[in-house]
Amino acid sequence: MKIHLLFVHCGLFALSVLGFSQDERRINDQQFKKTVMITGAAGFIGSNFLEYMFHKYPDYNFIVVDALTYAGSLNNISDSIKNSGRFTFVHTDINDFDTVNSLMGHSDFVVHFAAESHVTRSIVSDEKFLHTDILGTRSLLVALNNNRNKVERFIHISTSEVYGTAENQPMNEDHPINPRSPYAAAKAGADRLVYSYYCTYDLPVVIIRPFNNYGPRQHVEKLIPRIASSIILNHPVRIHGSGNQSRDWVHALDTAKAIDLALHKPDFASIKGEAINVGTSKAITVNDIAQSILKIMQKENYPIEYISDRPGQVDCHIAGTEKAKALLGWSPSISLEEGLADTLKWYLENEEFCSKLFESSSHPVYICDDKIEYQ
Ligand SMILES: NC(=O)c1ccc[n+]([C@@H]2O[C@H](COP(=O)([O-])OP(=O)(O)OC[C@H]3O[C@@H](n4cnc5c(N)ncnc54)[C@H](O)[C@@H]3O)[C@@H](O)[C@H]2O)c1
Repeated sequence: MKIHLLFVHCGLFALSVLGFSQDERRINDQQFKKTVMITGAAGFIGSNFLEYMFHKYPDYNFIVVDALTYAGSLNNISDSIKNSGRFTFVHTDINDFDTVNSLMGHSDFVVHFAAESHVTRSIVSDEKFLHTDILGTRSLLVALNNNRNKVERFIHISTSEVYGTAENQPMNEDHPINPRSPYAAAKAGADRLVYSYYCTYDLPVVIIRPFNNYGPRQHVEKLIPRIASSIILNHPVRIHGSGNQSRDWVHALDTAKAIDLALHKPDFASIKGEAINVGTSKAITVNDIAQSILKIMQKENYPIEYISDRPGQVDCHIAGTEKAKALLGWSPSISLEEGLADTLKWYLENEEFCSKLFESSSHPVYICDDKIEYQ
């Protein structure tokens, strides 16, 4: 079994992974109320979720599985978490079946964020997206089936991108699945694969479909941090197409709260196998978001460059959130004004995060008539 333990503070647990006795494993299992395995928690939403859960549940133990791709960094996890006695980091790919299978044998809850997540990268090259988002999810599902007597709940993090552009508004969970990019198609494949394992093997899964998330530590290739870091680093702000595309923006902390509710809902049968949107039911255009950012950063006259639209662009996303309210008792708690101001403050205080990632955050995209543009 290939396994690299970078942070091992739950000594007995770590030893058991490396092949020590059942007795040691049992002692450790009794130490914590629940063990939560989180894939992809060195990335944006996963690290926000880990932070939220870690502080909310002081008697829980956390195992993070992450391949540390270009999108993941251990700097996204605070030292207080890393140095605690209830955090284990396992540096591996979710396709490393033997490892994830063994780790699931110690996990009560699994929350699966790990994915290739950037639409533009998937347009340039989609192979990794299929490998991680579909096959990686399959590897976890097979492990879940093997460990069905141990794992109580498996939360799969899907995305609103599976719907494509809104055919009706707001977009409820029964909106057609019409992915418009290879990323969205890979995520749609994973989303339906999770559902098929629920139907076929009766596994304890819930599928969460977040709309556009924002908050601290999001990679600068994504819209809000990209605009913010362009301003911080003195580059022009670039907007795809007309800028009239609209998105439903939900703060990562609100997403974390929805997942927490799915993990702890007393009547699990009422959400088992369900897909549930997480959004705000408000659509805001890219132009309006850009203007809000410029205003908060007091750069109202900052230059904006309009470039070609992204191939396969989604015109409108707006969440129907009745199901989240009815099944989870969830609704968003952070307004865009408050969340945006807070997020921009974080980027202003973390200029190094922006400068480290900015140069590698645009990619050559074939537009048409032999035109290639960096997007
Ligand atoms: N960011 C959004 O707006 C948004 C919206 C809806 C859904 N989602 C979904 O939420 C999840 C998290 O998104 P994010 O924005 O935090 O992503 P991210 O790109 O910031 O982080 C992804 C993490 O997964 C890890 N990873 C990638 N491939 C891996 C592999 N093969 N094995 C193990 N780890 C691997 C990366 O190292 C990184 O830490 C994804 O599944 C994404 O599709 C994101």
